[in-house]
Amino acid sequence: MASPPDTSKTIKLERYNSYLRRVNSTKLLNASSKLLFRATLLVALVLIFFFTINYPPLSEHMGGGAHHVHTTHNFLSSAFYGGGVGGTAWEKQVRHSSTPKRPNGMSVLVTGAAGFVGTHCSLALKKRGDGVLGLDNFNSYYDPSLKRARQALLKRHEVFVVEGDLNDEPLLTKLFDVVPFTHILHLAAQAGVRYAMQNPQSYVSSNIAGFVNLLEVAKRANPQPSIVWASSSSVYGLNTENPFSELHRTDQPASLYAATKKAGEEIAHTYNHIYGLALTGLRFFTVYGPWGRPDMAYFFFTKDILQGKPIDVYKTVDDKEVARDFTYIDDVVKGCLGALDTAEKSTGSGGKKKGPAQLRIYNLGNTSPVPVGKLVSILEGLLGTKAKKHVIKMPRPTTDLASGLRKFVKWYVSYYGIETRVKREMDINKKISQQTEESG
Ligand SMILES: NC(=O)c1ccc[n+]([C@@H]2O[C@H](COP(=O)([O-])OP(=O)(O)OC[C@H]3O[C@@H](n4cnc5c(N)ncnc54)[C@H](O)[C@@H]3O)[C@@H](O)[C@H]2O)c1
Repeated sequence: MASPPDTSKTIKLERYNSYLRRVNSTKLLNASSKLLFRATLLVALVLIFFFTINYPPLSEHMGGGAHHVHTTHNFLSSAFYGGGVGGTAWEKQVRHSSTPKRPNGMSVLVTGAAGFVGTHCSLALKKRGDGVLGLDNFNSYYDPSLKRARQALLKRHEVFVVEGDLNDEPLLTKLFDVVPFTHILHLAAQAGVRYAMQNPQSYVSSNIAGFVNLLEVAKRANPQPSIVWASSSSVYGLNTENPFSELHRTDQPASLYAATKKAGEEIAHTYNHIYGLALTGLRFFTVYGPWGRPDMAYFFFTKDILQGKPIDVYKTVDDKEVARDFTYIDDVVKGCLGALDTAEKSTGSGGKKKGPAQLRIYNLGNTSPVPVGKLVSILEGLLGTKAKKHVIKMPRPTTDLASGLRKFVKWYVSYYGIETRVKREMDINKKISQQTEESG
């Protein structure tokens, strides 16, 4: 019987080959995964690098305190992504939005366009055929989703809002390179009075540094635009004369917000005087209406009344309610557009003044202050709900002058060690008055 062929060697060889194949394929797999890993790492590093230089730290978006960051880098990013700020598609949007649709229409740069007043003014300008480009940094002083919703509304009306900061000089210069704006409606600012206790720098950054940056770019632009900008009734500060007149003194601001708006008025004077920029400052008085600001009383009263929460109503020492001037948004829009329509051309060119230029300041508001109680009762009627009022009385002084001075004199004589002499004199005076009383 023939013995079966010895296959054990072939089997071993095949096993070995298959082992080699496995080892090789594992090596190949390892090598390719290493390559893949390295490539991914490289891409990730490149991306991290670009994101780091293209985006400012989050904190700079908070509270409006943005500084010089964005644009130079954004141009880089647009080169990288082929779109974004500074790219061809972006420039097309900027031009399209800014081009007027009516003969002799204006081309207006509206700063703070995603804000309450900015949105309304942009829509009104666009509606009548002017070209409008918005600028806003979408800071989170109040819910930015409301600003985004306003931006979406503007987009539906073909108003493009560039996301950027007033302090971003390269961005502003780029905008003026792309569009020869005839006017600027400058509404971007850090608004609100109370927030200064939390973030004072945001007022300086937006209302002073940002304004100066905008004026610097405007003064260099050719042609120079005419500028209408929002000041505030708060510049009247401690002045109690009513109704307020533009002739009244405004050198006693009662808040940092007011001080920065007053500074804006002085800065406007300087740029008008040195560079021939035509400037109109409008002092708004508590503006209210749809798409309004959540930090304002009429807005949060509405919210709190609907939620059944108590609202604080302040009363003065003599039991009077605090009163404010309220101006409906449509009237403010009319005022802004009227100021733009009557603005004269700036007179400078090449950064130099060529002749005297227009400089105006106007109150833009009602002159009949409304007590807060009346505001609340109108809201109650409209909402069909009674407000839970929490009346807070401004503290009344409890010490009369004679008693207060007696305490002061007591401290004074004791502190300066002249107690005995004064006491002697006081005793003598006392005796004299006793004697007078007895003899009388
Ligand atoms: N609403 C009022 O009652 C009232 C009263 C007096 C004065 N004002 C002034 O009117 C203007 C408009 O007020 P509003 O009620 O529409 O306020 P708003 O806060 O709704 O609008 C201001 C907009 O400017 C933007 N902004 C702030 N700082 C910026 C910066 N550095 N760069 C770019 N964008 C920036 C904000 O994101 C915001 O969208 C402001 O100048 C405000 O001080 C308003």
